[in-house]
Amino acid sequence: MGTVTYRVADGTEQVIEVMDGSSVMEAAVQNGVPGIDADCWGACACATCHVYVDENWYDKVGKPESMEDAMLEMACERRPTSRLSCQIKMTEYLDGLVVEIPEQQGVEY
Ligand code: FES
Repeated sequence: MGTVTYRVADGTEQVIEVMDGSSVMEAAVQNGVPGIDADCWGACACATCHVYVDENWYDKVGKPESMEDAMLEMACERRPTSRLSCQIKMTEYLDGLVVEIPEQQGVEY
């Protein structure tokens, strides 16, 4: 178990305890973090769980694999530290992780 800090576009933060093996997306949805819709519930098929990993954490989290990388092309405002939060599984190693929710995500048009 470890904590993950979710920074929301309005500047607020939610710090959530995440069980080892759970994804960063699952914890966000279960705790009502705004902007993480997770329409495909972790199947790496929607990009609605897109987050920016804090630069200080990106090397620990690692780069996306090819399928995730392709799906990130569909995400809004991709950055070098973009990841799909459903593909980040919590471990002790990631205790203290910080992610940011993209501003445009979850906005209804
Ligand atoms: Fe759909 Fe992550 S929940 S890609």
